[in-house]
Amino acid sequence: MLSHKRTQRRLSTQRSQRSRRKPIKVFFSAISVISVLILVSAFSTACRQDMHDQPKPIPLRASAFFADERSARPLVEGTVSREHLRDDTLLETGRTGNGEATMFPFRVDARVLARGRERYDIYCSPCHGRTGNGDGMVVRRGFRRPPSYHDDRLREAPVGHFVDVIANGFGAMADYRQQVEPRDRWAITAYIRALQLSEHATIADVPAAERARLQ
Ligand code: HEC
Repeated sequence: MLSHKRTQRRLSTQRSQRSRRKPIKVFFSAISVISVLILVSAFSTACRQDMHDQPKPIPLRASAFFADERSARPLVEGTVSREHLRDDTLLETGRTGNGEATMFPFRVDARVLARGRERYDIYCSPCHGRTGNGDGMVVRRGFRRPPSYHDDRLREAPVGHFVDVIANGFGAMADYRQQVEPRDRWAITAYIRALQLSEHATIADVPAAERARLQ
C-alpha cells in the first residue's frame, strides 16, 4: 500500500515536471520560427536585391562608365607581373618532349629529401600512408585505395611520372598543383624513391660501419 502511494507520488511529480517544461519548449520553438522568418525576409528583399542590382562592370561586357565602353580595362603601361613565370615545363610537370623525365632537374641532397618527407607527410600520407603502401587514414575511412608505391610498376616508373601525377592528378586522385609548388613536387618524388628503396633494401645497401647497429 505504502509503496503504491509512493509510486503514485513519483508519477505525479514526473507529470508536473513534464507539464512545466512544455511551455518553455513552445516559447523557444516560436522564437526560432520567428527568427528564421526574419532572416528569410531580410535576405529575400533588401540585402539580396541591393547587392544584385548595384552598378558594376561585368567582365567582357559593355560598360557605359568608360569612354571606350570596355569593362575589361587594358593593363597600365609598364605593368610587371608578380606571379611566377611558368615557362619551365620539366620543372612544372615532370615532362620533356620525349615523355616523362627520367632524371631530376636539380641535385637531390639530404635537405631536399627532408623537405620532400615533410611535404609528403602533409599532402600524400593521408591516402598513401606514411610508408607509401596505400593504407592512409582517408583510405581506412572508405576512400578508394591507391596502388602501393612498392608495386613493381611504380618502382620502375620514371621520376617524371610522380611529378606529373602531383601536377595533373591521376584517375580518382585530384591534382595537387595548387598545394605543392614545382620544386616540392620533385622533393616529394625524391622522398617516394627513398621509401621505395627502404622497402626493398638489403643488408648490403647499409654502409659497413652501420651494419652492426642493425644486428
Ligand atoms: C585523397 C587521397 C589521395 C591523396 C591525398 C593523394 N593521392 Fe595519390 N592516389 C590516390 C588514389 C585514389 C590513386 C589511384 C587513382 C586511380 O587509379 O584512379 C592515387 C594514385 C597515385 C599514384 C599512382 C599513379 C599510377 O600510375 O597508378 C601516384 C604516383 C600518386 N597517387 C602520388 C601522390 C602524391 C605524390 C600525393 C601527394 C602530393 C598524392 N598522391 C596524394 C589518392 C590520393
